[in-house]
Amino acid sequence: MPLPQKKRWESMAKGLVLGALFTSFLLLLYSYAVPPLHAGLASTTPEASEPCSPDPTEPEAVTPANGSVGGCQPRRDIVFMKTHKTGSSTLLNILFRFGQKHGLKFAFPNGRNDFDYPAYFARSLVQDYRPGACFNIICNHMRFHYDEVRGLVQPNATFITVLRDPARLFESSFHYFGSVVPLTWKLSGRDKLAEFLQDPDRYYDPSGYNAHYLRNLLFFDLGYDSGLDPGSPRVQEHILEVERRFHLVLLQEYFDESLVLLKDLLCWELEDVLYFKLNARRDSPVPRLSGELYRRATAWNMLDARLYRHFNASFWRKVEAFGRERMAREVAALRQANERMRRICIDGGRAVDAAAIQDSAMQPWQPLGTKSILGYNLKKSIGQRHAQLCRRMLTPEIQYLMDLGVNLWITKLWKLIRDFLRW
Ligand SMILES: *[C@@H]1O[C@H](CO)[C@@H](O)[C@H](O)[C@H]1NC(C)=O
Ligand SMILES: *[C@@H]1O[C@H](CO)[C@@H](O)[C@H](O)[C@H]1NC(C)=O
Ligand SMILES: *[C@@H]1O[C@H](CO)[C@@H](O)[C@H](O)[C@H]1NC(C)=O
Repeated sequence: MPLPQKKRWESMAKGLVLGALFTSFLLLLYSYAVPPLHAGLASTTPEASEPCSPDPTEPEAVTPANGSVGGCQPRRDIVFMKTHKTGSSTLLNILFRFGQKHGLKFAFPNGRNDFDYPAYFARSLVQDYRPGACFNIICNHMRFHYDEVRGLVQPNATFITVLRDPARLFESSFHYFGSVVPLTWKLSGRDKLAEFLQDPDRYYDPSGYNAHYLRNLLFFDLGYDSGLDPGSPRVQEHILEVERRFHLVLLQEYFDESLVLLKDLLCWELEDVLYFKLNARRDSPVPRLSGELYRRATAWNMLDARLYRHFNASFWRKVEAFGRERMAREVAALRQANERMRRICIDGGRAVDAAAIQDSAMQPWQPLGTKSILGYNLKKSIGQRHAQLCRRMLTPEIQYLMDLGVNLWITKLWKLIRDFLRW
C-alpha cells in the first residue's frame, strides 16, 4: 500500500476512535448532568424503614474466637457517610481492610465509585441489591439519605462521619474541584480563590453546574439544603438530627484522637486503625488561607461553620469522658505504630509525586488538569508478616475497590479518555 494511503487510513481510524470517545464522553456528561428520577426525598416507601434481614444461607462471617477485646464484641456493621475533602479516603482504607479481613459484605455502587453523587442515595444504586438484603459496611461517597441507608443494615449498625474546619475544606474543594465548576472559569487572576472570596456573590450561582462543591459542602453531603438562610431554625434542627443519627463524628484536624475514639466505640484493635495518609495534596504554590481570607471563607460557609462548631464542642466532651491522659497514651501508641509501619512499608519513607510512583496499582486518582495528589512506592523487600498489610494500607481507593470486586466501568472509561487526552 502506498504511504499516503496508509496515512489516510490512520487518520480516519484516529478520527473514528476520537469520535467514539467523544460520544461516550457526552453520554457520560449527560448522565452526570441530568438529575436521576429517584432524586426526590419523598421516595421513601414503607419498606425503607423496615430492617434488612440477613440471608440465612450465607455463612456468618468469621470472627476470630479471640477477637473480643476487654469483653466487648467488635462491631462489624458500619455506615460511614464519606464527606468530601476531609481525609475520608484514609478512613475508607481502614474500613476496606477491616471488611476484607473479616469477610464482611459491602454495599458498593455499581459502575462507578460513588452512589450517583450528587443525587441522593437510593438503595437501588447498590450493586446486587434486592429487597431485604443486609450489608455490613457502606462507605462510598453519597449524598446522605438516612431512610434509604438504614434499611440496608442491621438496626444496631454504627453510623459515623467526618468533618473538617469549613474554611480549610472550602479551600481544598476549590482547588480540587474548581476546574469542574464552570462558574470559576470567569475568575482570571493568579489567585482565583482570593478573587472569589473578595466577592463570592458576584461569581456564585447556586443553580450552576457542580456549584454545591463551593459552599457548605458538608451540609450538602449530609443531605441538607446547603443554601439555607443561616438564620433559619432548620439549621439547628439539622445539626441536632446529625447528632441523633451518628454515633461518632470524627474531625479531620484531630484525626488520631478521632481514630482512638472510633477504635473504642467499635471495639477494634490497634492494627485495625493503622493508616497512611492517602489522597493528600502536594503543598500548593498558593499560600494557605490566612487572616482575612480565612474569616471570609468561614463566613461564606456559615452553615458548615455552625455544624463544625457544634461537633468540635461535642468531640472534646467525648475526649473528656474518655479520659485526657488515656487519650494521650493511646494517640502516642497509634503514632508509634504508624511510624513503625511507615519504616516497614514505604520506599523512601514518604509520599511522592505521581510521576515518581513506579507501580500503576499504587497510582492515586488525580483531579482534572493537575497531578497534585501524592502517592507511595511500596518497598521492594517486605517481610512476609507485613507484606499483605503494607500493600493494603497503601492501595489507593479505586484500585482497592477493584480488588474488592466492584464494577467500575464508568470510572475506567473516564480514566481512558483522560489518559488519551492527557488531561
Ligand atoms: C485464643 O487464645 C489462646 C490463649 O491466649 C490460644 O491458646 C488459642 O489458640 C487462641 N484461639 C484462637 C482461635 O486464636
Ligand atoms: C447487632 O445485631 C445483630 C443481629 O441482631 C447481632 O448478630 C449482632 O451481634 C449485634 N451487634 C452488636 C455489636 O450488638
Ligand atoms: C475546636 O475546639 C477546640 C477546643 O475547644 C479549640 O481549641 C479549637 O480551636 C477548635 N477548632 C476549630 C477549628 O474551631
